[in-house]
Amino acid sequence: MKEFAKLIIDGKELTLPVIEGSEGEMAIDIRSLRQETGYITFDPGFGNTGTCKSTITYMNGEQGILRYRGIPIEQLAEYSSFVETAFLLIAGMLPTREELTRTSVYLNDFSLLHENMKGFYRNYPPKSHPMGILSAMINAMRSFYPELIDIDEDINKTYLRLISKIRTMAAMAYRISKGEKVVSPRPDLCYCANFLNMMFNNAVVPYRLDDDMVKALNIFWILHADHEQNCSTTAVRVVGSGKVNIYATISAGISALWGPLHGGANQAVINMLETIQKNGMTIKECIAKAKDKDDPFRLMGFGHRVYKTYDPRAKIMKKMTDVLLLKTKRKDPLLDIAKKLEEAALKDTYFKEKNLYPNVDFYAGILLRALGIPTNMFTVMFAIGRLPGWIAQWKEDVSDPETRLTRPRQIYTGNQIHDYIPIDKR
Ligand code: CMC
Repeated sequence: MKEFAKLIIDGKELTLPVIEGSEGEMAIDIRSLRQETGYITFDPGFGNTGTCKSTITYMNGEQGILRYRGIPIEQLAEYSSFVETAFLLIAGMLPTREELTRTSVYLNDFSLLHENMKGFYRNYPPKSHPMGILSAMINAMRSFYPELIDIDEDINKTYLRLISKIRTMAAMAYRISKGEKVVSPRPDLCYCANFLNMMFNNAVVPYRLDDDMVKALNIFWILHADHEQNCSTTAVRVVGSGKVNIYATISAGISALWGPLHGGANQAVINMLETIQKNGMTIKECIAKAKDKDDPFRLMGFGHRVYKTYDPRAKIMKKMTDVLLLKTKRKDPLLDIAKKLEEAALKDTYFKEKNLYPNVDFYAGILLRALGIPTNMFTVMFAIGRLPGWIAQWKEDVSDPETRLTRPRQIYTGNQIHDYIPIDKR
């Protein structure tokens, strides 16, 4: 094993320690660099920068591996539930039967919203994006449910309160936006079934819960539950490093997730597929547009900062989408376009050379459509799934003695010093 790296700069040799992760990932510890040499590193987008040590999620972008606490994502999708996976991420181990039951009891106990919070929804302008509402509502929780930070049990309750209420908030936002009556959570239903019931049940046509739909939603949320230091998780760690409360921290994560290059990509994929369909574009035209540097069009749901092969989550999502559409006997023309686009892109030299493969969002939107979820709720669905990951990462960050207030440096490229000019002389 390498123990040190040597850097020679301005004739001075600096010895930097090497850190090795448990799966053989290597890093050069540059913490002494600036102090010793006056230099900093330059790495926009942090593509080569490790900002923490973490025991939560392992991903290998070259081999298409994703594991939560060491367990392969494929096994969790097959055998686990979203609530069990959330426990695994936050607590660090799979729950016993008693622990899982206690978790479910708390999730039920915390599932209602404070009456005064409900008023917020009614005052939002119609057509507000639910991600903006969700981010504000989670931040507002600090006022309604002050964080209890003294006892482990209390802080665990805070996590469960967040996980439970985000689901109620999301369903409520949807119902109110449609001008429909809010459906209360039911203690007899599991987390995912409860959400579907709150979204779709109504007095005229009662919603019939279907096992495959519930399974698909469990899988969707398991696949989104964590993804190590992505944009929104980094936002959570950065904001959390200032020691702000957990609600404000998670709210920042939700805002970061909203963008089309990150969590908003699932909605962007559907918008793209609908545009292709509406304008009658051929697959060849789409591929040509995506490759054209002068055209802002990108193949949404393709490419990833870390995965340089097929995203393992996309494989599972594609399979589950097929099962669901077969089961519901629904034919989604957008799925046909997506499959043809994928086939063409995977054969194309541009995509091959740049290692651009479908990511989790490519099929996510089609699965959500099959569940009946409206397009503007897609990123909210991602946020509900990612919440346990954000909590686990926040928890790890605040208890890590190596955590420091996040405060990067910059290379200043602006004007050098010059005098102020009075306004009448400019
Ligand atoms: N379509 C066409 N060209 C692309 C695409 C794409 N989807 N993605 C990357 N490229 C090209 C890009 O133009 C660049 O070309 P060049 O080297 O000639 O300038 C090259 O591939 C590298 O791209 P990049 O933008 O520098 O790579 P990145 O690591 O900064 O970006 C990405 C990763 C996900 C932002 C990008 O692939 C993208 O914009 N994809 C579409 C949006 C999307 O699907 N986002 C969801 C990501 S998965 C969910 C999540 O974890 O957040």
